[in-house]
Amino acid sequence: MKIIGINGSPRKNQTTQKSLETCLDAARKELDRIETEIIELADLNIRGCLDCGYCKKQLKCKQEDDLNSLIPTLSDKNIAGIIIGTPVYLGTMTSQCKAFLDRSVLFRRNGFIFRNKVGGVLAIGGVRNGGQELTIQAVQAALMCHDMICVSDGLNTCHFGATLFSGDKAALMLTHLAFRPPKILDDE
Ligand SMILES: Cc1cc2nc3c(=O)[nH]c(=O)nc-3n(C[C@H](O)[C@H](O)[C@H](O)COP(=O)(O)O)c2cc1C
Repeated sequence: MKIIGINGSPRKNQTTQKSLETCLDAARKELDRIETEIIELADLNIRGCLDCGYCKKQLKCKQEDDLNSLIPTLSDKNIAGIIIGTPVYLGTMTSQCKAFLDRSVLFRRNGFIFRNKVGGVLAIGGVRNGGQELTIQAVQAALMCHDMICVSDGLNTCHFGATLFSGDKAALMLTHLAFRPPKILDDE
């Protein structure tokens, strides 16, 4: 069983990456046989969808950028869950995250490949109330289009997903992760 994290930040190895790592570490602690992998969109060139209709007939995009290289990884039948982490940019997800989600329509158009997989969302702002909840719900809207099962409330009354903020110091985060008490994470 595998859980994939998608890091929607244009910055490598920053707060979104660390937040995803925290979630995936927790998942592996719950169950030894969970494999995890993080895809950093910062490493990839993924443009917006052109609505050309090419992917209505095949599991492939006509655009020659990096989206097609993700198809084998993301169509793996062992994937049980996908966690999307995105920084909050002007109150919603990054353009990198939105471009990835729009282009992910090819998985929907070719047999709803993400159907019934669990989808979690982390939104990381620079400030505590910077639009994280709206961002989470915008990402969840896309996950619902895929017929995924969105992570919702947890024992900690974390209604929508995990909201985090980086604050002044890039590595300092206050996390509200479902099923876990709020925790301060510091860079070591
Ligand atoms: C263009 C831009 C817009 C931003 N807009 C917001 C915002 O609306 N709300 C907020 O809380 N933080 C905002 N931020 C701050 C980032 O969300 C914050 O620095 C986040 O930690 C970045 O994630 P990363 O460290 O993984 O790159 C913005 C940053 C940039 C560059």
